[in-house]
Amino acid sequence: MKRAMPCLVVALALVAVQCASGERALATAAAGEAAFATVYRVLQHPRCVNCHPQDRLPRQGDDGRPHGQFVTGGESGKGVLTMKCSTCHGDRNAVDAHAPPGAPNWHLPAASMPLVFEGRSAAQLAVQLADRAQNGGRSTTQLLEHVTHDPLVLWGWSPGLGRTPVSVPHPEFVAAMQTWLAAGCPVPR
Ligand code: HEC
Ligand code: HEC
Repeated sequence: MKRAMPCLVVALALVAVQCASGERALATAAAGEAAFATVYRVLQHPRCVNCHPQDRLPRQGDDGRPHGQFVTGGESGKGVLTMKCSTCHGDRNAVDAHAPPGAPNWHLPAASMPLVFEGRSAAQLAVQLADRAQNGGRSTTQLLEHVTHDPLVLWGWSPGLGRTPVSVPHPEFVAAMQTWLAAGCPVPR
C-alpha cells in the first residue's frame, strides 16, 4: 500500500496547472470527452446533486425531494440563523437510517458561487468546471485535489445506512477527471 504513494504523487504532478492546450490536447480530446461521460455520471448522482441544486434548497433521497423543515442554505450555504446545517448534521453519519448524514463542514455552496449541477447538460458542466469564475476559483490541480480528497465528495461513497452510494467507483471517477483535465477540458458535443 505504501509503495503506491509516490506513483500517485507523480501522477498528480503531471496534470498541468491550466487545461492543456495545443497538439497534445488535440490528440487526446476524444479520450477526454469519453472520460467526461464518467465524470458527468458522478456529478449527476443524487448524492452530489442534492448538495448542488439550482436554488438554495438542499434535496434528499434518490428522488431529490425537498429537504424536510424547509431548510435553506441561505447566503453562506451553511443555513440561516435559526436553522444551521450544523444543528443537525455532524462530522459523521448518524447511525440510524433517516437520521442526518454527516461529514466535516456539511453545507451547500454559497449563493455567490452556487456551483449548480442540477439540470446542467454535460456540455454546460464541462464549461462550468473548467472556468475559474464558475468553479470556485480552482486551477485544474485544485479541482483534481478537491474530487480526490474533499470529505463532502468522499461522503458520496459512504453516505450512511439507507442511502445509495455513487455508482462509479471513486478511483475510476478521479482517473476520469484527470484524463479530462489533461486533455484540455474538452466540451462534449
Ligand atoms: C454536503 C453537501 C455536499 C455534498 C454531499 C457534495 N458537495 Fe460538492 N461541494 C459542496 C460545497 C459546499 C462546495 C464548495 C466548497 C468550497 O468552495 O469551499 C462543493 C464543491 C464541489 C466541487 C468544486 C467546485 C466545482 O463545482 O467545480 C466539485 C467538483 C464538487 N463539489 C463535486 C462533488 C461531487 C462529485 C459530489 C458527490 C460525490 C459532491 N460534490 C457532493 C457541497 C457538497
Ligand atoms: C432540522 C435538522 C436538519 C437541518 C437544520 C438540516 N438538515 Fe439536512 N437532513 C436532515 C435529516 C434528518 C436528513 C436525512 C433524511 C432522510 O434520510 O430521510 C437530512 C438529509 C440531508 C441531505 C440528503 C442527503 C442525501 O443525498 O440523501 C442533504 C443534502 C442535506 N440534508 C443537506 C443539508 C444542508 C446543506 C443543510 C443546511 C443548509 C441541512 N441539511 C440542514 C436534517 C437536517
